Amino acid sequence: MTANRPHPRPGVLDIAPYVPGKSTAPGVAKVFKLSSNETPLGPSPNAIAAYRAVGEHLEDYPDGSASALREAIGGAYGLDPDRIVCGAGSDDLLNLLARAYLGDGDEAIYTTHGFLVYPIATMGTGAKAVAAGEREFTADVNAILAAVTPRTKIVFLANPNNPTGTYIPFDEVKRLHKGLPQTVLLVLDAAYAEYVQRNDYESGIELVATTDNVVMTRTFSKIYGLAALRLGWMYGPAHVVDAVHRIRGPFNVNGPAIAAGIAAICDTAHVERSRAHNTRWLAWLTEEIGKLGLNVTPSAANFVLIHFPETKGRTARDADEFLTKRGLILRQVAAYKLPNALRMSVGTEEANRLVVQALKEFLGKPA
Ligand SMILES: Cc1ncc(COP(=O)(O)O)c(C=O)c1O
Repeated sequence: MTANRPHPRPGVLDIAPYVPGKSTAPGVAKVFKLSSNETPLGPSPNAIAAYRAVGEHLEDYPDGSASALREAIGGAYGLDPDRIVCGAGSDDLLNLLARAYLGDGDEAIYTTHGFLVYPIATMGTGAKAVAAGEREFTADVNAILAAVTPRTKIVFLANPNNPTGTYIPFDEVKRLHKGLPQTVLLVLDAAYAEYVQRNDYESGIELVATTDNVVMTRTFSKIYGLAALRLGWMYGPAHVVDAVHRIRGPFNVNGPAIAAGIAAICDTAHVERSRAHNTRWLAWLTEEIGKLGLNVTPSAANFVLIHFPETKGRTARDADEFLTKRGLILRQVAAYKLPNALRMSVGTEEANRLVVQALKEFLGKPA
């Protein structure tokens, strides 16, 4: 190490940088990006109009407390706007929670195939990221509870999880909460909650409302189609909200995002269309890809995890190369300890059909 220059805090250089999904396929005219779980229907037209209108006033600072947006979210979900904090994507909020509650020597638990922002946010604070084992690509409450030590300060749980698409029922979330010391903050990341169509699922609103150590994070990047604007929100106990407000950037949400977010959340018909599209094509993809002899992890979100054999010429890497050449961009997930799988976002009908057809050809099946 060169002594004579600034050095980041311990842990920072141990972080493997987050690698976003690919968005290009060299030499291919028409590209279908199915690598970042974006919505194929795009945002509400009202959100686009609201975004454009703010473009006339880029000289103005946004409202630093995003109060109109918090009111809109509160109205849509029946929540107290004072218990909502908005952020530049839920990434921002996950990082703020880590900064507020973790420090050197602390530990945060996530799950083996859990969303990678959790270990990155954790290690950035000097704390240790502890991976709890999963069962069948699904969070395992017993394993999480077994990983708790006196140093544990946060448990991060994506429900449903990215990149597996699996979820745990609300009873299991409650059992997890009950088993945690009250001093541990349980962060329920419900980025894909709007897509879930399961009777035993809850995003966590009730648990936040009735306890003192649970926070739920949400995003406008998925079903609302505003990923480019970076907009997310969290709902938490007043004392957690207070802590996050103290360290967040004073204008951490930009004006166009606030305006578009309000319009998006009010356009319930558009959200319903996006959900219906996803429900239809998620089931179709799971079935059709399964028929090709590939295992697909049952997903409650807007993507599927497809498992490939280790046979030469048939691996996930081989499939990725084959699909990319045809302009079909899926996501490699080796960084999630899933080297034999690819994650595919539910796309337009055209994209979904093209992927199934291309996988057929890749596997040498008759057309
Ligand atoms: C589980 C999960 N949480 C959070 C995020 C981050 O979303 P945002 O765009 O709001 O930062 C993602 C995005 O992929 C995700 O999959």
